[in-house]
Amino acid sequence: MKTLFVERTMARKIGAALAGAATLMTAGMLMDGTAIAVGIADTKHNLSSPAGSGATATFAPTTGTGELCVFCHTPHGSDTSAVVPLWNRKMAAPTTYTTYNSLGTTSLDGATAPVGSVSLACLSCHDGTVAMNVMINAPGSGGYNPAGAAWAGTWTGTGQTTGLLGSATSITRIGQDLRNDHPIGIQYGGGMPAGGAYTTADIADGALKDPDFKGPKYASLNGQPTWWVDTGGAGRQKTDLMLYTRTGSASVNPDGTAGPVLTGAQAFVECASCHDPHTSAQATFLRVANAGSALCLSCHIK
Ligand code: HEC
Ligand code: HEC
Ligand code: HEC
Ligand code: HEC
Repeated sequence: MKTLFVERTMARKIGAALAGAATLMTAGMLMDGTAIAVGIADTKHNLSSPAGSGATATFAPTTGTGELCVFCHTPHGSDTSAVVPLWNRKMAAPTTYTTYNSLGTTSLDGATAPVGSVSLACLSCHDGTVAMNVMINAPGSGGYNPAGAAWAGTWTGTGQTTGLLGSATSITRIGQDLRNDHPIGIQYGGGMPAGGAYTTADIADGALKDPDFKGPKYASLNGQPTWWVDTGGAGRQKTDLMLYTRTGSASVNPDGTAGPVLTGAQAFVECASCHDPHTSAQATFLRVANAGSALCLSCHIK
């Protein structure tokens, strides 16, 4: 695959966070002797043994490890084929997926790029082709296999078929045909106001190329241009909708055709724009509750 767009996120300090979160969670459990609602431990993304508490009390875990993060992250030896924090699973090539834009809706304004970063990460489970116990660096010592390998522990979750996520007909198994899913790997708001890079300030509502979108907030973090859609509070928070920065080449469009259409840094929507894979606040891992379609209306001016 040609690398047409370079992706960037700010998630660089995961090693320290991994250690920190583990400590916090242990402390939380020691205080009253029972597991308390602490983020991911209390969600369906807790595949460890024993299973989560609360809403996930009946969710069947993977035998053989009490580790949570290992199903997605490893402190060493991660897959670096896309910009995802320390990813412990092999990600498929972006071209594996058929994307929404290939439907050809005439109303679509945003340029589409090959499925990006965090979306490839989600799909490394949710496309339903790789079992949950397949990872690069299995729990414990000596479990490293750069190609990814099935580890001895077995995931016995309710929503599974032979260790794969969901059934062929369940929504949980998003699959490899993404034409029936909200567009991802798509430019936010049809493009930046000036058509090219826009890396100076917050953008006003309706000022994007497609005026039916809320203007994203802007910050330069570690020298990288960064955008997000604000849902309240000061600065960027977990409940804000993350946009993922890709940097266009002067001669190639994000879809691989000859350009230029986009140059410079651009903001893209991916799975984790809407979902936070660690949150227990919403059952479907949404960054904000969707009552009154608040999630949709955070981006779309409708
Ligand atoms: C089901 C998969 C999954 C599990 C399990 C998981 N993560 Fe993540 N994590 C992700 C994905 C996907 C991203 C990228 C999300 C994004 O771009 O916001 C991420 C991003 C992160 C980041 C960087 C971005 C941020 O939100 O700060 C940190 C730090 C992190 N994870 C820590 C952890 C820790 C610690 C654990 C275990 C307690 C854990 N994760 C468990 C999927 C997972
Ligand atoms: C993070 C921002 C964001 C959120 C949240 C969001 N969308 Fe979108 N949506 C987009 C972008 C960007 C596009 C691509 C629009 C374009 O390029 O014309 C899009 C496209 C669409 C399209 C297809 C438009 C077309 O022309 O084919 C529909 C329909 C849609 N969104 C509905 C929804 C609904 C319903 C929700 C809530 C469940 C939602 N969106 C949440 C950003 C968002
Ligand atoms: C390690 C594999 C893995 C990864 C990676 C992963 N998930 Fe999941 N996800 C699961 C499992 C297992 C379930 C529970 C399935 C069930 O109960 O049917 C789940 C459930 C969900 C659900 C809730 C489904 C429901 O019906 O309640 C959502 C939403 C979701 N994941 C989104 C994501 C997103 C978005 C990402 C990337 C940011 C992601 N997941 C990454 C394994 C994964
Ligand atoms: C524009 C926002 C948006 C994007 C982008 C998005 N989702 Fe979702 N997703 C939602 C909303 C909203 C729901 C809850 C739908 C409902 O309540 O019926 C949802 C539900 C889900 C579910 C649970 C379905 C169920 O009913 O059990 C899964 C799994 C999921 N998303 C995975 C993903 C993955 C993987 C990606 C990227 C390929 C992704 N989502 C991208 C908004 C989004």
